[in-house]
Amino acid sequence: MDEKGIRILVSDQIEQVGRDHLENEGFRVDFRPGLSPDVLEEVIPQYDALVVRSATQVTAGVIEKGAKLRVIGRAGTGVDNIDVPTATRRGVLVMNTPGGNTVSAAEHTVSMMLALARNIPQAHMSLTGGHWERKKFVGLEVLEKSVGVLGMGKIGREVARRCQGLGMRVLAYDPLMQADAALKLNVELVNLDELFRRADFITVHTPLTADTRGLINDESLSRCKKGVRIVNCARGGIVDEAALLRGLESGIVGGAALDVFEQEPPGESPLLRHPRVVVTPHLGASTEEAQEKVAVQIAVAIADALKGRAYAGVVNASILHMAINEDVRPFLQLAEKIGRLAGQVVDGKIRRLTVSGEGDLVSGSIELLKAGVLDGVLSHFHPDPVNMINAPVLAAEMGIEVRELKRGGGKEFLHSLGVVLETEKDSIDIVGTVFGQSSWRLVKIDGYRIEVNPGGYLLIYRNVDKPGFLARVGSILAETGINIGSVSLGRKKAGETAMTIMSVDDPVPDSVLERLSQLEGVSGLRFVDLRD
Ligand code: NAD
Ligand code: MLT
Repeated sequence: MDEKGIRILVSDQIEQVGRDHLENEGFRVDFRPGLSPDVLEEVIPQYDALVVRSATQVTAGVIEKGAKLRVIGRAGTGVDNIDVPTATRRGVLVMNTPGGNTVSAAEHTVSMMLALARNIPQAHMSLTGGHWERKKFVGLEVLEKSVGVLGMGKIGREVARRCQGLGMRVLAYDPLMQADAALKLNVELVNLDELFRRADFITVHTPLTADTRGLINDESLSRCKKGVRIVNCARGGIVDEAALLRGLESGIVGGAALDVFEQEPPGESPLLRHPRVVVTPHLGASTEEAQEKVAVQIAVAIADALKGRAYAGVVNASILHMAINEDVRPFLQLAEKIGRLAGQVVDGKIRRLTVSGEGDLVSGSIELLKAGVLDGVLSHFHPDPVNMINAPVLAAEMGIEVRELKRGGGKEFLHSLGVVLETEKDSIDIVGTVFGQSSWRLVKIDGYRIEVNPGGYLLIYRNVDKPGFLARVGSILAETGINIGSVSLGRKKAGETAMTIMSVDDPVPDSVLERLSQLEGVSGLRFVDLRD
């Protein structure tokens, strides 16, 4: 498809520079921020890609209606406004811009912490309201206070560095953080309980997940120092708002600074009016620099993905980045072709797929090649559109066991890919390789040595290894006007069973397949369509 045929909907406020980049790449871009959920579902079938910030809710309904949708791009970090499992199930790539707004979010967090410590918003409101209340707004220094950083990812680390600059002690909790990383950052790695017990300020920087929802709750607050200050510039819901309000009212919590809310906008929340709460309307990433960076990053990422040039910032198919490696790409095409062939020749419900690699190139990209084989196998009969993003999910749903086998024994080829597909009553074992950059070859089927280019139409059968057999098959095809392109014969021992694979120029009608299968000595005859 030419680029102009590719339509991209930008449904949130994304900087012009990002939209320009997409247009300069030749795509047709519609900028329509503020669409209602109903209108979004109505228009989404026209688009190949959707670009959002945090306002648009990309629900399962939106994704399912997006019949042409290939990519959803999030100009920012959190993808909790996107139904990622549904996108993956439908084979839609989800991309974000990790790092693009890290510094802005960290600076905002520290600003909020200081504003909270010194009552700046409250004092501002009082003064602009005509009062001069110096006693009322006495604050506290942050120097030598302990700050507990929950989540030491990109933003948490930047916040920690800035807090250290202010002379604070940093207590860090992150299940993925190793002791040597903590040592390098000069932070004290503690467990959750210790963090709650010792911190004067707690700032959260985790994603919102089932594990982190309500991480700050009644129970955790009850373990905190009296007067603890809570900062949430990550995601609404990590701090349980009702528990926070109870903590403020009981005095356990000395104050809170919130940039994000369980509901956005938060409406009539009593937290907003609480005198010891400082709030901003999800402004963590709202700087000129961050917005420009994320707009450009997501535009570049989407254009690269749509044109198959690169896959940066992919959230739901990390294997794809290997697909652009020029040496791996031909093997990926081989994997898909082998998968299509295997899927067409086996009978019955698929039970198991085993993939094995020979040579570093194939073994090193086996995860990607597995997805390629599955894509080929499933695209033959799955009712939904299949690609490498959703093939592993669909296979798991169908109860197909997918495994990788380390190949032992001597090396036959520099690089080769082996695939065994087993059903409840059948199986096929195929080995293929690539010569040069794009000469794909099947080199073994069910242990028979052959040499076949996997493309076009193929006839595959076993026959008794006797003279004149090929001529009989050839004459039946000739009667029907079907031209034979090439023939590969493999046998394990002269006079026993042989494997024949024949490329033909046209589809073979069922009636002819029937006649061929009735030839004495022929078994397992299959017609396979491997056209591109
Ligand atoms: P990140 O992925 O780099 O870091 C997240 C960290 O949280 C990881 O190190 C992870 O190990 C850790 N983590 C996960 N579960 C945890 C748990 N149960 N306890 C402790 N740590 C846990 O992400 P990031 O870019 O640093 O973003 C952090 C948060 O900030 C995200 O929620 C993101 O959506 C949000 N964010 C908000 C704004 C804003 O405008 N307010 C801007 C950017 C990012
Ligand atoms: C993010 O996750 O990147 C933030 O919520 C920033 C935003 O989109 O405003």
